[in-house]
Amino acid sequence: MAFGHEMRAHWALDPDVIYLNHGTVGAIPRRVLAAQQKIRDEVEHQPSRFLLREVSGLVGLPRREPTLMRAAAAEVARFVGASGSDLVFVDNATTGVNAVLRSVALQPGDELLLTDHNYGATARIAAFVARERSAVVRTVRVPYPRFNPDGLIEAIGNAIGPRTRVAVIDHITSETALIFPIAEIARLCREHGVRVLIDGAHAPGVLPLDLPALGVDWYVANLHKWAHAPRSSGFLWADPQHHAALHPAVISWGLDQGFTAEFDWVGTRDPSPWLAAPEGLRFLEDLGLERVREYTHDLAWRGATALCDRWGTTLEIKPEHVGAMITLPLPDRLGSTAQEAATLRDALLFEDRIEVQVHAGHGRLWARVSAQIYNTMSDVDRLASAVAARA
Ligand SMILES: Cc1ncc(COP(=O)(O)O)c(C=O)c1O
Repeated sequence: MAFGHEMRAHWALDPDVIYLNHGTVGAIPRRVLAAQQKIRDEVEHQPSRFLLREVSGLVGLPRREPTLMRAAAAEVARFVGASGSDLVFVDNATTGVNAVLRSVALQPGDELLLTDHNYGATARIAAFVARERSAVVRTVRVPYPRFNPDGLIEAIGNAIGPRTRVAVIDHITSETALIFPIAEIARLCREHGVRVLIDGAHAPGVLPLDLPALGVDWYVANLHKWAHAPRSSGFLWADPQHHAALHPAVISWGLDQGFTAEFDWVGTRDPSPWLAAPEGLRFLEDLGLERVREYTHDLAWRGATALCDRWGTTLEIKPEHVGAMITLPLPDRLGSTAQEAATLRDALLFEDRIEVQVHAGHGRLWARVSAQIYNTMSDVDRLASAVAARA
């Protein structure tokens, strides 16, 4: 299977739009949509039997075989090097971060440690939890635009104090698309008795994962971005020592019945995004995980280098700092405000038919380019010309 525009046949994407924004909400391959529809058809065949017995085991005598949720969780767990009993499905990364931060015991004056590159919703969840418990959010500045992983580790070390309880760190940052050295950060936090929640929203499918080896306390991720699962499909992994204290943000029948029971049923929902998630992983494996990673990383890096050359801007990061997504500076002449970012993003989409993430930050505008196997350098060239014509 050759990667490039031929791969578009596997997606339902509009052929008239250059799609350089896979990272934002994912794009579900046709074969995964078909698997999801098959599950939905099965649900509708015998709805209560499927949802209350097969999916959740809520009704009927105890069963010997795992529920469908547990079977799917075991397959996802294998993909991330974990045990199925330590992994539960959540709607998305936002829901997982809510579950963890709203479950941690915090006393007045305790500190949550974040960085200034955390996803905006995560920063708000931390602010909300801190407000409720009279705790404090301390935000570490990431060295940027000249990113330097050692500088980040040092800044986190300097920010840890006697009241720091939990660090909330991205694996791959959202706007800036940087890979953070989370194993080293976790080691540092452990030395100081600080627990670590990793937001890995962009990691599954992009980075090889062995969650128990990372030395973190909780790991939240999305499968609907780069692991080709249907939306909404996220997971929450927790070290067994935290299972008893961890509760979903929505409490239901499973309260105090154990970690997986609490999360597997939080009211009547459509389970098809989770049950079809293993099909997304099989698609990735059929394509060849390593091939996918090489192609997308290479395209992201070469693309960004070419764009910077064309626009006369400078990339101040190294290839090892990024995966399949890269954030690069737009020409100065395009402005620096959120309004100017929105204007450019709209013009690129509605006039030039290019979907790409554009944002303002650090005194200028940036483009975040996602490289997927259906993209080629010709897509990047289209973006290069469209932006150059407006600068
Ligand atoms: C780092 C990070 N965390 C969390 C999220 C939230 O993902 P979701 O909207 O699926 O909860 C995103 C979304 O882009 C993200 O980039």
